[in-house]
Amino acid sequence: MVRSVPANENHIPSAVARRSVASAWKSYAIAATLGVLLSWAYLSGVKAPPPRICGQPNGPPVTAPRIVLSDGRKLAYSERGVPKEQAKHKLIVVHGLDGSRHQSLSLVSQELLEELSVYMVSYDRAGYGQSDPNPTRTVKSEAFDVEEFTDQLELGPKFYLASISIGGYTAWSCLYYIPHRLAGVLMFSPVTNFWWSRLPSREAYNAFHTQAIGDKLALLVAHYTPSFLYFWMTQKLLPTSSTMGALHLHCNPMDRDTILGGKPDPAIAEEAMQQGIFESKIRDKMVMFGNWEFDPSDVPDPFPSKNGSVHIWQGDEDYLVPVALQRYVHRSLPWIQYHELAGVGHLLHAAPGVTEKAFRQLFQSS
Ligand SMILES: *[C@@H]1O[C@H](CO)[C@@H](O)[C@H](O)[C@H]1NC(C)=O
Repeated sequence: MVRSVPANENHIPSAVARRSVASAWKSYAIAATLGVLLSWAYLSGVKAPPPRICGQPNGPPVTAPRIVLSDGRKLAYSERGVPKEQAKHKLIVVHGLDGSRHQSLSLVSQELLEELSVYMVSYDRAGYGQSDPNPTRTVKSEAFDVEEFTDQLELGPKFYLASISIGGYTAWSCLYYIPHRLAGVLMFSPVTNFWWSRLPSREAYNAFHTQAIGDKLALLVAHYTPSFLYFWMTQKLLPTSSTMGALHLHCNPMDRDTILGGKPDPAIAEEAMQQGIFESKIRDKMVMFGNWEFDPSDVPDPFPSKNGSVHIWQGDEDYLVPVALQRYVHRSLPWIQYHELAGVGHLLHAAPGVTEKAFRQLFQSS
C-alpha cells in the first residue's frame, strides 16, 4: 500500500512551456480579479463581521483551560493520554481547517497513547474555538505560538508535533523556525502551496488543474486578492472552495463516505468557528496560499544525527492536496519519510490502521 517515489525526477519546463504557463496563470488571475470585482460591486456592503471574542460581552463563554501568550492572546487547549509528569513523550497536535483542539480525538485511542506513553495536547489555533484571533497571523507566527504554548505548559526542551491537513503549515513553520525544539514530526495530508518559490512552474500549473473550478477560483483569490477572500468564500453566485460545503462532490469514495457518514458532535463542530469564519478558516487560507518566506526545500534536516524523524502521510487520491506537490516535497527533502497510500483521499484517519501505524513509527523509531 505504501509506495515510495524516486527522488530524482527531472521536471525543468522548457521555455515554451514556461511562457504558456505564465500566460495561462495571467489570464486566470485577470479572470478571477474581474469576477471578484464584479461580485464586489454586486454584493457591495457585504463585509466580514468582527470576530465574536470568547469571554467578552456578547462573545461565546470560555470553558476550556487557556494559556496567555506574551502578546496577551489566549490559547485554549485539551489534554489526552498519559499525564505529562509521567509520559515518556510529549506531543502537540495541530488541527486543520474547520477543526479545533478536539480534532485530535479522531486520531488514536487512549489505549494506544498509554501503550506508547504519550502525553498529547492539542490547542485551538488563533481564531478557532476558544483561542483569541491573531489578525497578524503568518506562517512564522505559528511556530512561535507553538513554542510559547509548550513553554507555558512546561513540556521541556523538546516535543513531538503532529499536524492535520492545513495545520501542516504550522508544522513547516516549526521545522523552519524552531527545529531545535522538535523531537519528531508527523504530518497527515499537509496542504501544499502552488506558490512555493522553488516549485517548478509547470508542476504547479499541472497540479492546479487537478482542482475543481470553485477551488481554483478560491485559490486565485486567496493568493492574488486576499482581501476579497471573505466575499468570495461566502458568495453564492459563482463556484467557490469545496471547503465551503460541497466537499463530497469531487472526492474519492472513502472521503465521501467519511464526510457523509460522519456524525460529528454538533457542539464540537459549532465551537470550532463560533468566533466567525474570518479569523479562523479565511485567515488560514490567506496565510497558507500567500507568499511564504521560505520554500519547503529550504528546510534543513532537523535530525542530521538520526535521533528523530519527520513523516508525511499522503493519499494519492487527495482532492485538496495534489499528490504531485507532495512528491515535489519528497523529492526535495530526502530526509523526510514519505508514506503514500494508494486509493486513499484527504481524510487519512478513515483509512484503517493508518494513524495508529503512523504513531507507532514516530515514537518507536526514536
Ligand atoms: C539529536 O542530537 C543532536 C546532536 O547531538 C542534538 O543537538 C539534538 O538535541 C538531538 N535531538 C534530539 C531530539 O534528541
